[in-house]
Amino acid sequence: MKEVKGTTRVLGLIGNPVEHSISPLIHNTLASLNEDDYVYTTFKVEKNGVADAIRGAYALNVLGLNVTVPYKSEVIDYLTSIDPLAKAIGAVNTLVRTDDGFKGYNTDILGLERELMDEGITLSNRTCIILGAGGAARAIAFLCASRNAKKVYVLNRTINKAESIKEAVNSYFKKDLVKALKLSDYTKIDEDDCICIQCSSVGLYPNVEDVIISDEAFYKKLEVGVDIIYNPANTAFMKACNRAGVKSYNGLKMLLYQAICAYELWSGSQISQSSSQYIYEKMQANMAGNIILIGFMGSGKTTFGKWISKNKNMDFIDTDELIEEKEHRTINEIFEKDGEKYFRDLETSTIKELSKSLNNTVISVGGGLAVKEENVRILKSMGKIVYLETSKAELMKRLANDTNRPLLKGSNLSDKIDDLMARREDIYRNAATVIVNTNDGNMDRMYKEIER
Ligand code: ATR
Repeated sequence: MKEVKGTTRVLGLIGNPVEHSISPLIHNTLASLNEDDYVYTTFKVEKNGVADAIRGAYALNVLGLNVTVPYKSEVIDYLTSIDPLAKAIGAVNTLVRTDDGFKGYNTDILGLERELMDEGITLSNRTCIILGAGGAARAIAFLCASRNAKKVYVLNRTINKAESIKEAVNSYFKKDLVKALKLSDYTKIDEDDCICIQCSSVGLYPNVEDVIISDEAFYKKLEVGVDIIYNPANTAFMKACNRAGVKSYNGLKMLLYQAICAYELWSGSQISQSSSQYIYEKMQANMAGNIILIGFMGSGKTTFGKWISKNKNMDFIDTDELIEEKEHRTINEIFEKDGEKYFRDLETSTIKELSKSLNNTVISVGGGLAVKEENVRILKSMGKIVYLETSKAELMKRLANDTNRPLLKGSNLSDKIDDLMARREDIYRNAATVIVNTNDGNMDRMYKEIER
């Protein structure tokens, strides 16, 4: 926990609701990585309270603010200056303290631009297709136009909303750049290799199977698809892109980069690629919300995993069991016939597959799985990794009568545990987000430690 001192500068988020925002996680991690003496918190602002909130924040020497729903437009009235693109869009999500008040920016779209740049895509001279015509679509249409896109199609179920974006962008840039189409008229788009940005709410959790356009022919026109939705991580739109051989991305990087752009404006510093990557992995883990149990055989991964599943309403899976099901044979048989390397590769492909879609699940992983660095990276993106630390004496007790463990066969149990501990304990400790001692078997206490 950061030490808050007399010198600590305050950053925050205003909006309503704000309680579930991931921004505090991102910005406080950035502050700690950057060694800045900042603290970021949320401020729930009631209707009619925006003017007071901005004036009060300035008076309290707040260094910067993010603004979220429903105040991104309203807040503009209370700024002393505004970035021209944010002004054209009519929405601001970042306020930066200046000598005479706050200046407003829209880093949501700068975040999208940075996400595209990350993938080597620039908007200049490209055909862009925007699906949906809400606030995000409007901002992204302005971004595409300001970065010299060749053409921008805005497709929406309700055509007049798309028309309104078209008029706003075309009149601002004084050219006939944006074309509005009814969603069902997507076949009228002639161009190939388009950049498509999915800005509608279709496919958002829990309606994860929904997709705004299901016709595969549409996806063949694309070079890349970006869904601004990040929950689920792999949306039906992204899957449709992939089926057509088109690369696709979700909105999590956009979320990351809007935060990084804001933080850079506040701090005046440049966030490194490695810090961005570190935070991105943290966000992925936070979104997925899985609990991954690692530890020696006998440490209680299955017992405790099933306990969490039952008591905390999460799903439970065991990677060893999953592999046995997939292979239609036991792990003993896999080891005997194909050897350990074959089994380890199966483990990697299994968790890779799981990482694409799994959430709210307790995952008990095989004792050797975390030994491979690649596996730890994948697991880290899936949730909290919990090392179930157990003493040798306790492991001896629990394993004494177990015959179904390939690595324990044919040798003295005590030596085998010593050997495994010597080889794996540090690996488990380094991979873990949380270390929980299991010796007393008190699952309530163990779970509380994970939550903390
Ligand atoms: P934002 O969060 O960007 O402000 P919004 O205002 O909530 O977005 O807009 C949601 C978008 O998703 C709209 O473009 C909406 O289409 P309409 O303008 O026709 O309502 C689109 N959308 C939501 N449900 C849809 C559905 N079932 N089929 C097609 N489009 C849909």
